[in-house]
Amino acid sequence: MKGIVFSQFLEMVDENFGHDVTEHIIAASDLPSGGAYTSVGTYDHEEIISLVGNLSHISGVKVQELVISFGHYLIKNFQIIFPKYFVEIDNALELLENVNDYIHVEVRKLYQDAQLPKISTQRTLDDGLILTYKSKRGMGDLAQGMIEGVIDIYGSKYTCDRIDLEKEGDLQCIQFNIVKKQQ
Ligand code: HEM
Repeated sequence: MKGIVFSQFLEMVDENFGHDVTEHIIAASDLPSGGAYTSVGTYDHEEIISLVGNLSHISGVKVQELVISFGHYLIKNFQIIFPKYFVEIDNALELLENVNDYIHVEVRKLYQDAQLPKISTQRTLDDGLILTYKSKRGMGDLAQGMIEGVIDIYGSKYTCDRIDLEKEGDLQCIQFNIVKKQQ
């Protein structure tokens, strides 16, 4: 997993739990990288699992809840780090439709070894969107937080329900139903 994700995670822990907690979870996680991440570096995916697990342990907040909040945090910061994907888009569904075939394609040009999920989208007749997430890394909770974050960025006009589908081999598969709120 790319260092940018780790640095953002540790920044979130600093802001929400305090720097002592960040230091504590780095020490407790016994990381091959030692917890020093550069945004272009690539690190073992297990390191983030270890960090989140230790944060859950020390804070008493469930892992799933922590990962979903991190998704919100990450997408809000991506808006600052990568503004070009957000300007000239005025609707959450348009941004979500761009992730697989545009945003993540550009991300791969920046980081050739990026490991990205497969995301497909389909508009519904009632102005909503079905988004399907598939990935070997099983980061559906992160996807949920990022989708909810996108909805918030564009004025909270949609709700997002999640249906966990059968795994396809080693792929975690989740369907997100994004539905327009009634006025
Ligand atoms: C400006 C928007 C976005 C940017 C710049 C971006 C960029 C990235 C980057 C850099 C990674 C890390 C790849 C790696 O560690 O190798 C990543 C992974 C990921 N992205 Fe995006 N992303 C964006 C939007 C989204 C959105 C809206 C979703 C929601 C569905 C999403 C879902 C994910 C997930 C779940 C992963 C983790 C890897 C996996 O599940 O396989 N991304 N993205």
